[in-house]
Amino acid sequence: MSTDKENFELVAKTFRGLEEVLASELRELGAENVKIRKRAVVFESDKELMYRANFHLRTALRVLKPVFSFRARDEDQLYKEAYEFDWTKFLSNKTTFAVDGVLNSPYFNHSQYIALKVKDAIADQFRERTGLRPSVDTGSPDVRLNLHISGDNCTILLDSSGESLHKRGYRTAGYTAPINEVLAAGLVKLTGWRGESNFLDPMCGSGTIVLEAAMMAANIPPGLYRKEFGFEKWGDFDPSLYENVTGEELPERDINYKIIGSDISPGAVKIARANAKNAFLHRKVEFRISSIDDFVPPEGGGIVVVNPPYGERIKNNDPVFFHSLIGDNLKNKYAGYRAWILSGNTDAIKHVGLKPSKKLVLYNGPLECRFHEFEVYSGSKKQKKNYKT
Ligand SMILES: C[S@@+](CC[C@H](N)C(=O)[O-])C[C@H]1O[C@@H](n2cnc3c(N)ncnc32)[C@H](O)[C@@H]1O
Repeated sequence: MSTDKENFELVAKTFRGLEEVLASELRELGAENVKIRKRAVVFESDKELMYRANFHLRTALRVLKPVFSFRARDEDQLYKEAYEFDWTKFLSNKTTFAVDGVLNSPYFNHSQYIALKVKDAIADQFRERTGLRPSVDTGSPDVRLNLHISGDNCTILLDSSGESLHKRGYRTAGYTAPINEVLAAGLVKLTGWRGESNFLDPMCGSGTIVLEAAMMAANIPPGLYRKEFGFEKWGDFDPSLYENVTGEELPERDINYKIIGSDISPGAVKIARANAKNAFLHRKVEFRISSIDDFVPPEGGGIVVVNPPYGERIKNNDPVFFHSLIGDNLKNKYAGYRAWILSGNTDAIKHVGLKPSKKLVLYNGPLECRFHEFEVYSGSKKQKKNYKT
C-alpha cells in the first residue's frame, strides 16, 4: 500500500447529474487533476486527501482506489489475470472481503457472475499459497473490492469508503420513499443556497433535504456521524493522520435564517425530528405538521425545495394534482422565493403552471428525474396555468 506522501488516482462515484457539483467539492478540498467522468470524478490524491474526501464530500457515494488494470474478453482470462495479481498487498488469510461488479461490456453478461470469478481467483490464490483462504463477507467485509469492466478494460478498485457515503449515520428511519442523502445534498448545492436566506421543504418526509441543508450551512462535515470508513481496515491505515483530518477545528457557523421542513403526515415529521436529533440539528431546523396548503412560509424570501409524491416510488393516483397544488401554493404565498421541484414525472411537472428558469436532469438511483427551478415574483399569480415546458 502507499506511503503518506505518495500520490495516486482516486475515483469518486456519484449519481448521474451531480458530477460537476462533486468536482467543485473536490476542488474546494484542494484536489488536483480533477476530471469528470460519467457518474464519477477522477482526481489525484495522497492518503490524507483520501481520508479528507471520505469525511467531507457531501455528493460522493464512494471513493475508490484503482489497484490493478488489465484486459479480458472472457471469464477464463478474467480469472487468470485476477489469480496472478499479488493480493497479499491488500488481503491476508484473516481479512474478510467482498467483490462488487459494474459492467458495461459486450464480452460479459452478468455483473454478479464476474464478481464471483474474481472472488474465486483471490480465494484460490490464497489457498494455493498458504492452504488457507480469506473469508467472504458481503455484509460488512474488512476489504471491499470493486470490479469495473468497460469493453475489455477491467479495473479492480479498493473501496476506501466501505459502506456507501450516503449512510451518514443520522438516519435511523425513513418515511415512505426517502431521498438518498447524497442526492439531497446535491439538490441543495444545485440551488446555490449558501445559508444566506431561508430554506424550506413543505413536503419534507423524513427531512433529508433540510437536514443536509442545515449540515451544510452549519459547516458540519457529513462524515462526522459515521462510525467507520473502509480505509480504517486497510493495512496502511494511519490513525494519527486520520485524527488530524477528523479533529481539524472547523468553525461551526451560526444559522441566522429559518430552515423549515413540513409534512402533512405526523408520522413523517416524527421521523424527521428523530433524524434531526441524531444529527444534533434539532435546534437548527424547525419541523411542522402541516399540509402544503396550510403552511405559511416565513417572510424575506429564500429557497424552497419540494420533492412531491410521484408514481414510481409512492403509489399515487394523481401526480398532476400534486404538481398543480405545489404550483398554486408557490404563486399564492412564495413571492421572493426561488422554488425547485424534484420530480420523477416528466409530464406532471408541466402542470406546475409556472415557467421554469432552469431545467436539470438528475437520477435518483436508476430513476430519471427532473429538477426545475421556478422564480416566484409577486406577479406570478397571473401566469397562465399548465404552462407547457
Ligand atoms: C416523496 S416524499 C418526500 C420524501 C423526502 N424528500 C424524504 O427525503 O424523506 C413526499 C412527501 O409529501 C408528503 N405530502 C403528501 N401530500 C402532502 C400535502 N398535501 N402537504 C404536505 N405534504 C404532503 C408525504 O407525506 C411525503 O412525506
